[in-house]
Amino acid sequence: LVAYFQPKLLAGKRVLLTAGPTFEAIDPVRGITNLSSGKMGYAISRAAYEAGAQVTLVSGPVSLPCPVGVRRIAVTSALQMHATVHQQVAAHDVFIAVAAVADYRPAQVVEQKIKKRLQASPPSIELVANPDILGEVAALPSPPLCVGFAAESENLSEYAESKRRSKKIPLIVGNLIQDGFSGDCNTLILFDDDGAHPLPPAPKIDLARQLVARVALLLEKV
Ligand code: CTP
Ligand code: CA
Repeated sequence: LVAYFQPKLLAGKRVLLTAGPTFEAIDPVRGITNLSSGKMGYAISRAAYEAGAQVTLVSGPVSLPCPVGVRRIAVTSALQMHATVHQQVAAHDVFIAVAAVADYRPAQVVEQKIKKRLQASPPSIELVANPDILGEVAALPSPPLCVGFAAESENLSEYAESKRRSKKIPLIVGNLIQDGFSGDCNTLILFDDDGAHPLPPAPKIDLARQLVARVALLLEKV
């Protein structure tokens, strides 16, 4: 019902999002992942749909239902997320990268389950870097309006602003991980060319609607 009364700030716009963690396989039963419930990205997907957008959500493994009206593409690894985003991005006006992408993956996936061998020294895992999905999209010849997230454990403003500059994106959303992790509430700060805009602690869906309003404002400017 609430959705019915939301202003249609993104009417006619197409919004692509990433959300959740990625999972990088080590062997058939083990892997490396990040902690991410997916709740913030799913809330933004829902808010964007309520605001009239056509929404594509590229989601890592989470245990959340797909928001009504949203087209979800499920992926597991960062490489799959990367490929899916590149397939989809051209048809979109906005890209919001909320996913907690693993920065590294094992160089090789071992085909059979690795056995414990107590006599031998513990195995080590060689890692290679994953592509920076947001950074690459922002560097496309005619990129969509790009929005990033910076979840930090310290120095939030400094790290968020430096990511905004290095990835060359107009808007980054900062949050301290101790404020929002896995819960239904969060505290955010939006950083754009006009400076820092703190959004006080609120349910993730309320924050998502405020973010959507900011994105709509930026879209008017471009
Ligand atoms: N991101 C991405 N692809 C990656 C890594 C990050 O698209 N391989 C996106 C995230 O979805 C987020 C933003 O980039 O929107 C910032 O992610 P973050 O992990 O905070 O930044 P990094 O540049 O990876 O820096 P670090 O992990 O060292 O803080
Ligand atoms: Ca990272």
